[in-house]
Amino acid sequence: MGCQANEPKFYIGVSQCSDDEWRDKMNSEIETESWFYDHVEVEFRNAFDNTEQQRKDIDYFKNKGVDLLIVAPNEGSALTSAIQSLMNDGVPVIVVDRKTDSEIYTAYIGGDNLGIGRAVGKYMGSAISAPAKVVEITGLPGATSSIERSQGFKEGISGYPNLKLIATDVANWLEADAYVVMQKLLMEHADIDVVFAHNDRMAKGAYRAALEFGRADAIQFYAIDGLPGPGYGIEQVKKGELQATFIYPTYGDVILQTAIQILTHQPYLNYQLLSTSVIDKSNVEIVDLQTKEMVRLSDKIGHFKTKTRLYYEQNQNQKILLWVAVVVLLLVGTLSFLLFRSLNAKAKLNRKLRANNDLLEEQKTRITEQRDQLLQLSEQLEVASQAKINFFTNVSHDFRTPLTLIIDPINRLLSKPNLNAEEHQLLEMAQRNGKVLLGLINQVLDFRRVVDHQLPFRAERLEVAHQFKDWAMQFAPVFQTKNIAFEYTNTMSIPIYADVDIEKLERIFYNLLSNAVKFTPERGVVTVHLRTVDESLQFTVCNTGSFLEPSQIAHLFDQFYQVEENHSGSGIGLAVSKAFIEAHGGDIMVESDAEIGTTFTVTLPLHHAQVNGASEEIGSDVPLQVEAIDGDGVEQLPSVDEQVNLLEEDIDRTTLLIIDDNRDIRHYVKSLFKDNYRILEADNGVDGLALARRTLPDLIVSDVMMPKMNGIEFCKAIKENVETSHIPVILLTAKALDEHRIEGYQWGADSYISKPFSGELLTTRVANLLDQRAKLKDYFHQHKEEVKPTTAEGLDHEFIANFKKLVEMNMSNSSLKIEDLGSELGFSRVQLYRKVKAMTGSSPHEVLRNYRLSKARQMLLSKKYSVSEVCYEVGFTSPSYFAKSFKEEFNESPSDLIKG
Ligand code: FRU
Repeated sequence: MGCQANEPKFYIGVSQCSDDEWRDKMNSEIETESWFYDHVEVEFRNAFDNTEQQRKDIDYFKNKGVDLLIVAPNEGSALTSAIQSLMNDGVPVIVVDRKTDSEIYTAYIGGDNLGIGRAVGKYMGSAISAPAKVVEITGLPGATSSIERSQGFKEGISGYPNLKLIATDVANWLEADAYVVMQKLLMEHADIDVVFAHNDRMAKGAYRAALEFGRADAIQFYAIDGLPGPGYGIEQVKKGELQATFIYPTYGDVILQTAIQILTHQPYLNYQLLSTSVIDKSNVEIVDLQTKEMVRLSDKIGHFKTKTRLYYEQNQNQKILLWVAVVVLLLVGTLSFLLFRSLNAKAKLNRKLRANNDLLEEQKTRITEQRDQLLQLSEQLEVASQAKINFFTNVSHDFRTPLTLIIDPINRLLSKPNLNAEEHQLLEMAQRNGKVLLGLINQVLDFRRVVDHQLPFRAERLEVAHQFKDWAMQFAPVFQTKNIAFEYTNTMSIPIYADVDIEKLERIFYNLLSNAVKFTPERGVVTVHLRTVDESLQFTVCNTGSFLEPSQIAHLFDQFYQVEENHSGSGIGLAVSKAFIEAHGGDIMVESDAEIGTTFTVTLPLHHAQVNGASEEIGSDVPLQVEAIDGDGVEQLPSVDEQVNLLEEDIDRTTLLIIDDNRDIRHYVKSLFKDNYRILEADNGVDGLALARRTLPDLIVSDVMMPKMNGIEFCKAIKENVETSHIPVILLTAKALDEHRIEGYQWGADSYISKPFSGELLTTRVANLLDQRAKLKDYFHQHKEEVKPTTAEGLDHEFIANFKKLVEMNMSNSSLKIEDLGSELGFSRVQLYRKVKAMTGSSPHEVLRNYRLSKARQMLLSKKYSVSEVCYEVGFTSPSYFAKSFKEEFNESPSDLIKG
């Protein structure tokens, strides 16, 4: 019978009452039979002749959920209830071998004990004809097998009156008990002829006792079981210990078959009585052979079973392996498929991405091209706009020059006392409009700076209150004309100094005030208020009568924004002001109220880290100045040689060199100085430099924008050459932009005055610089031994040192000429004269003489030399002239000094 995988697995319990060879045989048969049913599992338990134990075993099986129980009850009555309870639970029970008290069981299979007992009795009767005394040794009294055997035996011998049952005793199926019982019986009955033991085992015990009593041969022994195996029933018969033994069939195979039939609901026999056979001398050999063969076959079956199981297991393992292999293959296949699909998808995606990329790349190229075009356009625009700005800047510069020549002469005319009222009024009008024009020009230049982001910040310390008032006062005429009330308040009790870029601050203030004036109606009020708030300077410019909407305020500081189109103005003033305020690190705020008017509040930090000392820069302060306009009737410029020759005649006079390609400017500047100074002129940098080198003027005023050599290059050449390095240079130009000023100062310009300039400022500056030189000379004169003016810089210092060294080396050389010293130093006579004079205030000759006398004084004071020794040593040829000169210089004669 095969087992389907989905067939239920049957769990069968076997509860044996005893542990002996008979039950071993039965169990082995059950187990062997079970091998034919793969879905059956059998568990054996043994009670070891203990009824109580067996009850527990039955409970055990019950609790384990046994599907069917095979039970050989130790004692029928005692186990009935346990078996019944199991049956009640619906568990089938097969009672084997011994019976219970009740008929409640699913099936009974066992030897026919009654029949066997009868068969033993009858066999005995037919074998023994003489009268014989019989004893019976029984199994366990409660066992039905024992009871029935006894009963059957008595029936069996009842037909043979020669057989007399003289005693029956109990040995509980056990050899040892039978041994003891037999001893007792032998002692009680000396003439026992026959012993019937209920099993072979007990017969063996009885035989042993009879042997001991020397009665073994005289007594015939009969028993039941007929088991094969060493020492068991069949062998006992073969040995002659047993007369005969009756097979008590175990039939384990039948029992299991029945169990399976019950469990699989097949028809089965619910009561099977198994018959017996006798084994005696006549058949023992063949039975022995047969049983041995059976055992051999049974072993083979076992072996076969083992092998089969092994093969089965191997097969199972192989199956598992096969399945695993199949599963792995499937997985690999699936994965490969998935991989292939994903690679395929990836390739597709890549193709798509590449296509997208190409598209993007194309778009990028297009965008880049468009961007480049835009950039190009924007550059073109930038260039165009820069060109416009440059144009306006240049035009503005060009305006500044003629403006200078308009405003400054007007100023000078206005200062004349003998003007009549009308003339005065007309001149004032001209002056006012000139200033307006200048303001506009300045705005354009400021705007250029803002656009170029060139807003270098040149902080100077300024006493603000006065300065603001001065600036505000320039508007006085306008206030008057427009009938505007002007209020200036200053809540600062002490003078307040702020670090500001004065020029920028002035622009800011000028812009705000101009706007205020522009938007104030007649009879309105303009207020300027000045105060300090914490560490800041704050000023407000407020005007009545104008109101700005918040939307207008939002754009107020945008470039080219105009509040009202019909108002004049460039729309850059406030944007520039804001940029200048930010350059100060400050801010500007606007408030507007329909009632009060509009107020601009500017807040600037009071102190700035980069405060320059006194700035050399002047100029854009106000009005005047510059180039241009070819004036008629201006005299021809004398050549360089002519001018040098003229100078030879008047070597000591203070000389100014004016270099400008604009004749009007030269003429105007010359007009400022010609009364007090000798004037040299050049109309380009190259001629200017030649003149400067040959004449060493006391001061140079030079334009920056000139043909051949510009003012910056000229200044550099002057300052790099030892002959000319001491000469102060004022650069004078229409280029008002900061970068030009910085460049000018970098190359050592002593002053930078931007056009338009005021003639007054220029004359003051020239006077100041010459005064500084004079002080330098004084200093040198007073410290002539040191010959080291502290303010002399670089080349000048070196020149003085060289000159001093040369003089000392040649001090005793009485025939030394100034020309010699000059050529030693690479200077012409005129150059040396003017350089030494410019640096020291004395002529080279005087310097030499002073050196000689000073040296002489030192020697005399040392008292090591005579007067005449000293006289020759310091290069005097005549002691009397030496003495005279010495007395003139030191107010003491050499001989008095020695004596003193
Ligand atoms: C084994 C045994 C046998 C006997 C049977 C009777 O336990 O004693 O020898 O034939 O039981 O139930």
